[in-house]
Amino acid sequence: MSKLDDIVSLCKRRGFIFPGSDIYGGMAGTWDFGPLGVQLKNNLVNTWWNYWVDKRDDMFGIDAAIIMNPITWEVSGHTATFADPLIECNDCHSRFRADKLVDGYSESITTEEFKAINPKCPNCGKTNWGTIRKFNMMFQTHVGAVTPEDENGSETDKELARRSIAYLRPETAQGIFTNYKNVVDTIYPSMPFGLCQFGKSFRNEISPRDYILRDRECSQFEIEYFVKPDTWEENFESIRTEYLEFLQKYLGLSKAKIHELEVPEEDRAFYSKRTIDIMYEYPNGEEELMGIAYRTDYDLGNVAKASGKNMEYRDKNTGETFVPHVIEPSMGLERAILDILSEAYTEDEINGEKRVLLKLPEGLAPYKFCVSPLLKNKPELVEKAKFVYNKLKEKYTFVTWDDSGNIGKRYRKQDEIGTPKCVVIDFDTLEDDTVTVRDRDTAEQVRVKIEEL
Ligand code: GAP
Repeated sequence: MSKLDDIVSLCKRRGFIFPGSDIYGGMAGTWDFGPLGVQLKNNLVNTWWNYWVDKRDDMFGIDAAIIMNPITWEVSGHTATFADPLIECNDCHSRFRADKLVDGYSESITTEEFKAINPKCPNCGKTNWGTIRKFNMMFQTHVGAVTPEDENGSETDKELARRSIAYLRPETAQGIFTNYKNVVDTIYPSMPFGLCQFGKSFRNEISPRDYILRDRECSQFEIEYFVKPDTWEENFESIRTEYLEFLQKYLGLSKAKIHELEVPEEDRAFYSKRTIDIMYEYPNGEEELMGIAYRTDYDLGNVAKASGKNMEYRDKNTGETFVPHVIEPSMGLERAILDILSEAYTEDEINGEKRVLLKLPEGLAPYKFCVSPLLKNKPELVEKAKFVYNKLKEKYTFVTWDDSGNIGKRYRKQDEIGTPKCVVIDFDTLEDDTVTVRDRDTAEQVRVKIEEL
């Protein structure tokens, strides 16, 4: 089994991540977070929000609707260009993302380039390919009282169906651009300032793959940082430096596994004048964790034209007016979770016995403490342990109780789910009010007074 297989298995076994709609045979590209996974996810969201919004004076949060007026996606360019190269095998009619079947090519791969390599169809092994088509990845839906039959009904029905088309947002960013004016007109932030959003995005990926790395439903952490046009370079640099610090200090990612990739012009998104992809060494190879893009005034400029509203910012001190340019760091939650788990997953030996542990940063671990009575059939130990449990729960919230199996098994289980400290109440506790505190990473045990916990 590869390390990724081990992580996938641990996540399922311990209630972190389950395949979406598992009970009905699954739903490709979707994943469900179980009790421990949702706690890890919430801790990550809170850590991100705390670092980027709460602790700063220049960042503000927003939470926009997922279904937006479809004009949004025409204006942003997604209707015309948010597409991946689709290729079909003429023999078995399986469809694939062309650039993922050959090494070293990006989304801009042409049919000629593909056919020069002519890889085998992963399904039937033949090499009888069609031509590459652009496949738009936005999920379409109808809003309002329109039925699928209307699409093939009378001309009026067809028109009704056409006008009701809407999309599940493929990025959260547009909810920020469309609210830029609302925010400026209501809270008058000083320049530069950022609007931060966390939420779901949907992409009809041709080939969802690599566990939770490429999903059809994912969540994004996005910031649009609005700057004076001639200061974009210094702001790009400071966002980049701060993000690298955040990834290491708060997500626990090691510097050696993080790599920056300057994206060449032909591979950049249509809106970007400069992009750095932050790559991470996953167990299965290096993959993009997030991107930092300089989106210029592409979005605000287009919103201004389409809405007829003025997007200019007026500097409070100088009276100067300009349409701000934008630096956008955008990170996927699922990719961040996989990084965190890959970094934390460890196998070692304690007293000649193999163990698996998640060395999660304390701020991300689903539980901070596990409290146990040494023996669950001694009422006096259970009563004292309950007292300690309630006290810790009041103070730290994320505390779990475990009185199953023997103490060794409890430690193994807590190691696997990344609980930093296990607190055990034994007969000495009844005498001197001290407990054993066992450290996840070193397995060292110390006696600590209850009031010092
Ligand atoms: N607003 C800019 C934007 O959406 P992107 O490079 O398409 O840019 C940003 O996406 C980040 O969102 C990626 O770096 C990745 O972390 C995450 N992401 C994008 N598509 C994803 C998918 N299908 N599954 C999981 N995460 C995805």
